[in-house]
Amino acid sequence: MSQTMQGKTVLVTGATNGIGFYAARELARMGAQTIIVSRSSEKCAASVAQIMKETGNQQVEYIAADLSNKAGVKSAVDAFKKNHSRLDVLLNNAGAMFMSRQESADGIEMTMALNHLNYFYTTYLLLDMLKANEKARVVNVSSGAHVGAKINFDDIQYKKGYSGFGVYGQSKLMNLLFTYELARKLGGTPVTSNALHPGFVNTGFAKNNGGFIKFAMGLLSPMQRKVSDGAATSIFLASSPEIDTVSGKYYVDCKAVESDPASYDKAAAARLWQLSLDLLGL
Ligand SMILES: NC(=O)c1ccc[n+]([C@@H]2O[C@H](COP(=O)([O-])OP(=O)(O)OC[C@H]3O[C@@H](n4cnc5c(N)ncnc54)[C@H](OP(=O)(O)O)[C@@H]3O)[C@@H](O)[C@H]2O)c1
Repeated sequence: MSQTMQGKTVLVTGATNGIGFYAARELARMGAQTIIVSRSSEKCAASVAQIMKETGNQQVEYIAADLSNKAGVKSAVDAFKKNHSRLDVLLNNAGAMFMSRQESADGIEMTMALNHLNYFYTTYLLLDMLKANEKARVVNVSSGAHVGAKINFDDIQYKKGYSGFGVYGQSKLMNLLFTYELARKLGGTPVTSNALHPGFVNTGFAKNNGGFIKFAMGLLSPMQRKVSDGAATSIFLASSPEIDTVSGKYYVDCKAVESDPASYDKAAAARLWQLSLDLLGL
């Protein structure tokens, strides 16, 4: 086992399947103490057992929590802080697309709740631990689906005119606005903030919707990347010494690229930041 992450602690959300599972396993293989978070205790326990078996790393744990609501995120972070005194890498990965409008336990539109407020609040609660290190990283899994999206500030939770694809694109644009605003706020601290697009990857993504979408994703699977390729940029941003001090960037295939112009709108980023604080009652 390569030991380049020896002595580091990483927290990976949404890591019982797909990109998150693969990234967590490879970071564990590099020697990181690896904590995964997903909703199902059973799936978490099975994932931890598989990671331990395949990597030989016994420092792998799980926290079961629903990250689509405030109490779930808080319980996950509290559980993490209870057992750990350091965090080197926070990999915000848990996300999904919802073809019909749903609301979280907090009454917030589900895509925004899971894909954006989860990243925002998890990071918010862990920043003190991250800042306590000599170096630390926040890595946010966004998507190329942010291109052409807009933040619908007049109806941010899409009470009218809901479209699963449109709202998903908005949430992934939020990931970038958040990543860049966080990088600006963290200037002068040891913590970096970067985002990525994993590509179109053969995972469980969108299959939560069942019916036609699940069928369509099956048909599209030959066009999708392998999970190993999809997870490569997450692993790179979490572990590569090359980008130790790089912050506020968007990566595709382990290379920094420009994101959509809308993602660089500082006024929108500041407005989204405040709105997120308000929605979370912070
Ligand atoms: N696949 C793609 O083509 C693609 C493209 C661009 C971006 N992405 C992004 O990549 C990230 C990972 O997606 P994936 O493709 O790997 O999807 P996936 O295979 O469906 O995995 C999603 C993971 O998130 C967890 N999760 C879902 N809802 C959760 C909740 N409420 N609380 C806690 N954990 C939750 C799931 O575990 P449980 O069900 O056990 O909770 C699972 O481990 C997402 O942010 C997605 O937007 C994916």
